[in-house]
Amino acid sequence: MIKLKAKISVEKGNIIGKVSNNLYGSFVEHLGRCVYSGIYEPGHSTADQFGFRGDVSELVKELGVSVIRYPGGNFVSNYRWEDGVGPVNERPVRLDMAWRSLERNEVGVNEFSSWCKRIGVEPMMTVNLGTRGIQPALDLLEYCNHPSGTYFSDLRIKHGYAEPHNIKYWCLGNEMDGEWQVGHKTPDEYGFLAASTARAMHMFDPELKLVSCGSSHTFMDTFPDWEATTLTHTYDVTDFISLHQYFDNFDNDTADFLAKSQETDRFIHTVVSVCDYIKAKKRSTKDMMLSFDEWNLWYHSKAHDDDMMANKPWTEAPNLLEDIYTFEDALVEGCMLITFLKHADRVKMACIAQLVNVIAPIMTEKGGGVCKQTTFYPFQHVSEYGRGESLRAFCESPKYDSRNYCDVPYVESAVVRNEENGDITIFAVNRNLEEAAETDFYLRGFEDYSFKEHIVLENDNLKAANTVAEPFNVVPAVRSDSVADNGNGNYTIRLNKASWNVIRFVRK
Ligand code: AHR
Repeated sequence: MIKLKAKISVEKGNIIGKVSNNLYGSFVEHLGRCVYSGIYEPGHSTADQFGFRGDVSELVKELGVSVIRYPGGNFVSNYRWEDGVGPVNERPVRLDMAWRSLERNEVGVNEFSSWCKRIGVEPMMTVNLGTRGIQPALDLLEYCNHPSGTYFSDLRIKHGYAEPHNIKYWCLGNEMDGEWQVGHKTPDEYGFLAASTARAMHMFDPELKLVSCGSSHTFMDTFPDWEATTLTHTYDVTDFISLHQYFDNFDNDTADFLAKSQETDRFIHTVVSVCDYIKAKKRSTKDMMLSFDEWNLWYHSKAHDDDMMANKPWTEAPNLLEDIYTFEDALVEGCMLITFLKHADRVKMACIAQLVNVIAPIMTEKGGGVCKQTTFYPFQHVSEYGRGESLRAFCESPKYDSRNYCDVPYVESAVVRNEENGDITIFAVNRNLEEAAETDFYLRGFEDYSFKEHIVLENDNLKAANTVAEPFNVVPAVRSDSVADNGNGNYTIRLNKASWNVIRFVRK
């Protein structure tokens, strides 16, 4: 007998907003083994002619990643892009201050952008506003996007890249509010520099889409004043403000951990409010969009990494941030994705940080195999079935209190209608660790639909994980016994305890 009852209803025409394809972005930083022995490993049995791992490229395509932010992250703030172009054997080895690593610069903007093109992904470049400023940013822009006939465009051609990369999305620095950032700034210093850089970049191409740095975390002392002050400078000349958020389960309290996406929701509300306040002050007609360009879970590797950073000599591509994710991590990731969909009107960019090996959905062994982490699956499902318009779902669910959160609904859900084929998909997490939730689902105005499929990710062991040696401990399954069609667009769906659910409906 199921005691936990929930209700979800959607109504035709009640739309939150169009889901941006850029919600399914990721992030490649020169950090640990994300680039070297991650996406790039010449000599690997699956490497293509450019040295990029074919097994990884295939999984990136399967994940459905739309845009990839590059080359950092903290790394970018003492990076010289010129080091990563030209003949590889002439490129310098540099000290990367952010991650106490040696950077050989075998991969740079040309290799990265060409790889993106080959796998059908849009690159998003970050310029260094830590140790550098406007001129190097303009030089990089000219190198990447100008067709020919100027110093930097001809240099690119000389380097073997006849066609411009035409990079549309650019981030103006990274986490400039954080004192760990090389060259971190006060809000006024950063806001002024970011706005001046943006204006100069727009002189080259007014169509560029620019992202200014928001706060690195909600617990920064300067949040949300940082947003208010920097936007005073940047509002008119940028398109997005960034949000970064990482969760952990250091306390090993699953109920509390699963509730953390409540903070994502609050973070979005706060940043939207600040943006709209600046909009009002400026008498602007433009809405500032949100770029959640770093989000994920980050904790499994912390102790190892602190030791590594403090005590080890400078090394190339060390094993850093190699979190092995558990099943419960996948549930939290699902809740975060659902939260983005619920704010599809303002969150128009999101990048899971990162893509490979470094707090990533894909793990590799150097010279060996590759595996999908548990967190691969919710992302893949939402990226596959979550394109279209996000419908406003009215969800009634019993709630619980955890150590740090009150009134957390057991059932968290979002609903997306694909505009091309009309398919409707519910994404839902049941946070209850003991009981299934019997959920009545009402599709108002979509009575000509029928149930197609219920995909689940569930596991009796919340700490189960996948590795290259054991890649199938946590994999999705299709359930055939969980949905009852009550007619007239009404369904009853069983969401098992602690589960990620994708329920699909198609037109009859
Ligand atoms: O993604 C790992 C790091 O987290 C990034 O380099 C930085 O921007 C953030 O603090």
